[in-house]
Amino acid sequence: MPGARPTLYISRLLPDPVMAVVRQQFQLVAEPFGTVPAQSALREGLCHADAAIVTLGDCVDAETIHVAPRLKILANYAVGYNNIDLAAAQQRGLIVTNTPDVLTDATADLTWALLLATARRVVEGDALVRSGHWTGWSPTQLLGAEVSDKTLGIIGMGRIGQAVAQRAVGFRMPVLYHTGRAMAVSSLPREWEYRSLQNLLVEADVVTIHVPLTPATHHLIGSRELSWMRPTAFLINTARGPIVDEAALVEALKRGIIAGAGLDVYEEEPALHPGLAQLKQAVLLPHLGSATLQARVQMGLVCLKNIQAVLDGRPAPNQVH
Ligand code: GLV
Ligand code: GLV
Repeated sequence: MPGARPTLYISRLLPDPVMAVVRQQFQLVAEPFGTVPAQSALREGLCHADAAIVTLGDCVDAETIHVAPRLKILANYAVGYNNIDLAAAQQRGLIVTNTPDVLTDATADLTWALLLATARRVVEGDALVRSGHWTGWSPTQLLGAEVSDKTLGIIGMGRIGQAVAQRAVGFRMPVLYHTGRAMAVSSLPREWEYRSLQNLLVEADVVTIHVPLTPATHHLIGSRELSWMRPTAFLINTARGPIVDEAALVEALKRGIIAGAGLDVYEEEPALHPGLAQLKQAVLLPHLGSATLQARVQMGLVCLKNIQAVLDGRPAPNQVH
């Protein structure tokens, strides 16, 4: 049918400015909801679409890919794409794209919010004020850790890791980093110093994780690695939950192996490992890394740009391999 709009499956309701463009340019397979679709609904949706926008909560496995022969592009509404079986997609020529760059600042900012909230006991302080039990200023109340002049250890020096490092300047925090990637380390500022993973964990006062989740980074931080950290150190994770062995982390926090943790991501989102929610030295956020209106709108527009390119027969700007 000439002039017919291409068919799009979109697994979740995206911010209004994105939905407005979607409704103008595409025929929706189904009206998206605010909640995670059941696996059967995801499959059903993908099987009738030319293009799709999926989110990090959607598991697009080989089976799902095989029931969607008509689908040309899967635009993942995230920078991480561990929710998609890339090998299966490649095998059948399905293009997969992500949303780098537009969420870098939002995620780096949130990392610092979590770092400061954890070190300075911001959440405990808020709870105390709201409880009605606050009796006024006290010289010994809710004393936290100073972060200025302390050593920041960054695991993963991609876009987000580097943006986190740039923000350390104002706190005069020396930056150590570890990266598993054979990247152009020589292109990084000289004042950031490379360390082996073990040396970074031994030396850093704050360790923050910015690697993608892959088989190689699954449980990269377990009980052995936590034992290398200082008892005064904090662990921050805004990357992916399974990079940290959550059971080992709960144990390390309980036993005082490390001082605290700031988490935005979990191994089995939205579930938490038993005991984690009871630990005051952990600050727990509901996967808010890219959660600014600006970033979430831009992420949607990047997905649409990639989809348009593929449907027009052009290369996708953000294809992942
Ligand atoms: C969010 O977690 C993302 O990968 O974009
Ligand atoms: C990824 O961000 C890495 O530096 O390994």
